[in-house]
Amino acid sequence: MNELGERLRIIASFVPKGKSVCDVGTDHGYLPAALCLSGDCRSVTATDIRKKPLENASKNLKRLGVKNVELILCDGLQKVPQEKAQAVVIAGMGGDVISGIIDRCPYKEKPDFILSPTTGASTLREYLAENGFTVEKEVAVSENGKIYSVMLCRFDGKIRHLSPAEKRIGKLDFQDEAGAAYIKKQLSIIEKCIFDLEKSGKRQDFLSENIIAKQEILNKKKG
Ligand SMILES: C[S@@+](CC[C@H](N)C(=O)[O-])C[C@H]1O[C@@H](n2cnc3c(N)ncnc32)[C@H](O)[C@@H]1O
Repeated sequence: MNELGERLRIIASFVPKGKSVCDVGTDHGYLPAALCLSGDCRSVTATDIRKKPLENASKNLKRLGVKNVELILCDGLQKVPQEKAQAVVIAGMGGDVISGIIDRCPYKEKPDFILSPTTGASTLREYLAENGFTVEKEVAVSENGKIYSVMLCRFDGKIRHLSPAEKRIGKLDFQDEAGAAYIKKQLSIIEKCIFDLEKSGKRQDFLSENIIAKQEILNKKKG
């Protein structure tokens, strides 16, 4: 499907085959369209909190000749029964919004979550770790000059505390081009933070966290 960019293509490839899938915050509806056309899913549902995006999704699905996607107007997964959400995609929103949607899900221990935040990936990684979710797989993907993380997560009930570097780069590594670019960008954000905090003399705790994150990332690079 031409409408699917690289980011949505990677997200679709993370969806386990044979499961019912719900795309939360679908907007244009391209992801559920592609999942439906692939024939690999048991059922495909898509939600959005606003009416306009759902109307947009409905038009696109018609144009693409896709009939079997159920569209639901609701916050997150509030009106989606558990059997329709064995796998849940939440992409294109901030890490705090994604964390909130997972947190309000009445059956959050059950689905496979495929997550791709636009911003606030550290906040999302921290939420997942501290609330019993494990990230099984994470890759970076670049599209239109921006770089995103895509994660596959499941609830396993173990509470984890992430190191400063783990919060910033998760499970990404230097081995592929997009992963290396993601880490390089995080390093430059950390370095700017260190520079600003040293200059202002404020937030010593935050300054030392950034220094530790930088050192951890550099050590990882050395291998
Ligand atoms: C930028 S679009 C992302 C579209 C698509 N998921 C993607 O990644 O390309 C974000 C969409 O999420 C919807 N949204 C925001 N908060 C939501 C929530 N709590 N529940 C459902 N949809 C939400 C917005 O209305 C918007 O249509």
